[in-house]
Amino acid sequence: MWSSRDLTDWLVHYGTSQEEFNFIKNSAMFMLPDDHNNSARYIYKAELHRLEYGKQYFYKIVSEQSPDIQSSVFSFKTLDPKKDRERSLRFITYGDMGSTRSAVTVKSIQQYHDTHPLDAILHIGDFAYDLMSDSGKVGDDFMKEIQPIASTIPYMTSPGNHEIPGDFLSYRIRFSAPGIDWPMPLNKLWYSFDIGLVHFISYSTEVYFTYMESSACEQFDWLKADLEKANQNRDKTPWVIAFGHRPMYCSNTVRDDCSNATMRRWVKQGLEPLFHAFGVDLVLQAHEHSYERLYPLVNGIVERFNYTNPRAPVHVITGAAGSMEGTNFMRRDPEYWSAVQQDKVGFNSYGVLDIINRTHIRYTQIEATDNSTLDSFILQQDNHGPFVHGASCQNGHSNLHYCSCILPLQRIIIGVVLLAVVAILLIVCVILGVYYSSNRCNKNKMAYKKFRTKHCFKSCCFTYRHRFYQLPSDERDSQSLLNGEVC
Ligand SMILES: [Fe+2]
Repeated sequence: MWSSRDLTDWLVHYGTSQEEFNFIKNSAMFMLPDDHNNSARYIYKAELHRLEYGKQYFYKIVSEQSPDIQSSVFSFKTLDPKKDRERSLRFITYGDMGSTRSAVTVKSIQQYHDTHPLDAILHIGDFAYDLMSDSGKVGDDFMKEIQPIASTIPYMTSPGNHEIPGDFLSYRIRFSAPGIDWPMPLNKLWYSFDIGLVHFISYSTEVYFTYMESSACEQFDWLKADLEKANQNRDKTPWVIAFGHRPMYCSNTVRDDCSNATMRRWVKQGLEPLFHAFGVDLVLQAHEHSYERLYPLVNGIVERFNYTNPRAPVHVITGAAGSMEGTNFMRRDPEYWSAVQQDKVGFNSYGVLDIINRTHIRYTQIEATDNSTLDSFILQQDNHGPFVHGASCQNGHSNLHYCSCILPLQRIIIGVVLLAVVAILLIVCVILGVYYSSNRCNKNKMAYKKFRTKHCFKSCCFTYRHRFYQLPSDERDSQSLLNGEVC
């Protein structure tokens, strides 16, 4: 993918040699419209075919009209499904990277890639701040910043809240996903792919925060089917790793995200039962500009305080790649499910995910400014599969906890209806209580007729009657006659 300020017929020349580009592929174009009197920009995409497994390829972008106009030469290496299936793989994972604060992180990743070749990068939402800002110039700058890594390593994405403006248009045009049309459709900002021993799932948390609420259920149904399929394929891809922008849990001081947040609960309630039931091993998230590792947990309850054969997903929040909004600091009293928290001013960091083999993953969080290790842990799983025994939504199996999608709006409506029912019941009780008290007053009118004539048909009758009967029986008549005002 690349962009141009001019409308040009661009071609991709590519081949296995830097000197000879054997193949030529034309490109598809989509215009990013002008919105602030700056000129429009054109985004191009080309899909290269006839690639062989496990080979190094070189490519450049060439103008069809003026072949002298061309880009630098870039390169990438294709995976070999047979050789790479059982070998260890290495991925970079981060979120929240701004256009002017990404340099430190990108440079560190480049250095890492030189010594430890990477298989893919997972960018978990919030790009550039924002891709469409300044009529797309910020997006252009950001794409230039990540070009050294994105031009040579698969750059896999999921959308964040900063991609929402303009119906995610800049995100849907500047990135693409396997098996999905381009530009990515508004109601299909989620996808999955297999690399080696891993089934990766990119999901959108933003379906819970936009008007596209029906998309929340479209995604839910897709996730359900995708996870069912993944579980039937665990012998080939034993690990299932999901990545989406906003976290289900966090220990930051940002109240709207971490504590008492209705919005956060939507993501958690919408997806956690599904991820738990179908045995998602690792959930990578961002949005908080800090780093946090959780113990395996579900519904706020820690399943175990270690990472050996957990029966619940492990959550990691890595959103400190260089946000333009500064660090989100941690609370001093994190919940018991939080194992590690990292925050500091000017924080730039990213995660390295090593798929060691079928049973072991190593996750390491790197400080980008000095390449030091902030945290590292091993996740061991000898029994891959659903965490809920026999989890399935097929063949009429229906479980409200993980097979049914409930939209946030529906939840609000259900809540309002329940409140209304409770209010109606309370009103009925009060009416019945007053009616009952009035009848009692009438029945005992001979005993306290003065009260009846003055008060019995008033709403406070019950109180008067109560006080009346608290008096000794031999005093009732005189007291009632003398102290009617006691009521
Ligand atoms: Fe965010």
